[in-house]
Amino acid sequence: MTQEIYSPGLEGVIAGETEVCSVEQGGLFYRGYSISDLAQHSTFEETAYLVLHGELPDKAQLQEFRRVLDEHRALPKPMVEILRQIPRTTNAMAVLRSATSAVGHFDPVPGEDRSAWHHRTIHLISRIGSLITTWQRIKHGQDPLAPKPGLTHAEQILYMLRGEIPDPEAARLLDLTLILYMEHEFNASTFVARVTASTLSDLISCVVGGIGALKGPLHGGANEEAMEMLQQFDSADQARQWTLDTIASKGKIMGFGHRVYKHGDHRAHILEARMRALAARLGETKWLGIYDAVKNTMDQEKHIFPNLDYPCGLTYYLLKLPIEIYTPLFVASRVVGWCAHAIEQHFNNRIIRPRSRYTGYANRPYIPLVQRGIAD
Ligand SMILES: CC(C)(COP(=O)(O)OP(=O)(O)OC[C@H]1O[C@@H](n2cnc3c(N)ncnc32)[C@H](O)[C@@H]1OP(=O)(O)O)[C@@H](O)C(=O)NCCC(=O)NCCS
Repeated sequence: MTQEIYSPGLEGVIAGETEVCSVEQGGLFYRGYSISDLAQHSTFEETAYLVLHGELPDKAQLQEFRRVLDEHRALPKPMVEILRQIPRTTNAMAVLRSATSAVGHFDPVPGEDRSAWHHRTIHLISRIGSLITTWQRIKHGQDPLAPKPGLTHAEQILYMLRGEIPDPEAARLLDLTLILYMEHEFNASTFVARVTASTLSDLISCVVGGIGALKGPLHGGANEEAMEMLQQFDSADQARQWTLDTIASKGKIMGFGHRVYKHGDHRAHILEARMRALAARLGETKWLGIYDAVKNTMDQEKHIFPNLDYPCGLTYYLLKLPIEIYTPLFVASRVVGWCAHAIEQHFNNRIIRPRSRYTGYANRPYIPLVQRGIAD
C-alpha cells in the first residue's frame, strides 16, 4: 500500500519529472538556460524553439521555424465567421478558449506521432496570435487584418491589432514579456495540460484546458486585475492607503505573491527594469508612483513581492495595449510551455490520478423517496 501524503494545494509535492524547465528560489531555467540570459540575448522564436526541441536552433532551423509560423498565421475563413458570431461583450479569454478549440478542427496535420504534435504546436502558436488580434478588431467593429509575412511574432501581434508596422522598441518589449511568460514548470495551467495529456487525449484539449486554468485571477488573470487595481488611484498616497486597508482586511492584492518564489520573482525584476526605462522614455511618472506605492507598502507590511504579472500589467498599459488582451497575450506565449509539457507527458506517460482524503458523511442508510421530507 502507498503511504498517504496530503498537502493542501499540492504545495511542495513533486507531481512528475520534467526536462523542460526548473523553477528555483535562486533562478529560472528553460532547458538549462537562465531566464536572464534568454531575456538579454534571445527572441520569442528562438526561445520557443528551445523550449519545444530542447536545443537552441541554428540559423536554418530558426528560419524554417519562422517560415512555418508565417505559413499558418492567416485564420481559416470559417474561423473568422465563428468569431463574428460571438457576442462582443464576451470576455476575451472565454473567446480564446472557444476559438482555440474550434481552430483545432482546421488542423491540417495528420497523425499522432511526435513530429505531428510538434507541427500542431507551431500552428497553434501562430493561430492563437491571430485569434487574439482578429477578435479584438471584430469586437471593436474593425475589419480583421491579414498577417504580414516576415515580421516577428511580437511585431505581427502588434501589426494585426493596429495595422501599422510597430515601433521596434515596443515590439522588443512585447517580445521580452513573451519570453518571460513562456514556461514555468508545474504551474496550475501546465498541470492541467499534463493531466489532460496523461489520459492520452489530444493536444488541442490540453491547450484548451490550460487556457481555462490560466483565465483565473490567481493565475494569469492577475496581470489584468493588477492594472485595473492601479487604475483606481489618482495618487501614490491613495494607493498606499488602499494597500494598507486591503492588508488590514486580509484582502488579496493581485500581482503579488507566489507559491514557489518567497523572496521575489526573477522575471518581475527583469521586466520591471525595462518597464522603468520605457516610462522614463515616455516621461511617465504618475503610474510609476502609484506602482511603487503599492509595491513598497506590500514589502514593508507583508514582505510579499511582485510576481511577473505586476510589472507586466503596467508594461502593457504603457504600450497602450487594451487591458482585456493582457491575459490572452500570456496565452500567446505560455502555449509553448503547455505544448512542450503535453508532448513530454504524452510520449513518456503514466496517467496522473492522485487520491483525495474523504471528509464527508460516513456510510448512511438509504431512505426511500416516499419517506424523505414531510409533505402536508
Ligand atoms: C500566487 C498565490 C495564488 C500563491 O498562493 P499560495 O502559495 O497559496 O500563498 P499563500 O496563500 O500560502 O500565502 C501566504 C500568506 O501570504 C498572503 N498573501 C499571498 N499573496 C498575497 C497577495 N497577493 N496579497 C495579499 N496577501 C497575500 C496570504 O494571504 C497568506 O497570508 P496568511 O499566512 O496570513 O494567511 C497568491 O500569492 C495570490 O493569490 N496572489 C495574487 C494573485 C496573483 O498575483 N497571481 C499570479 C501568480 S504568478
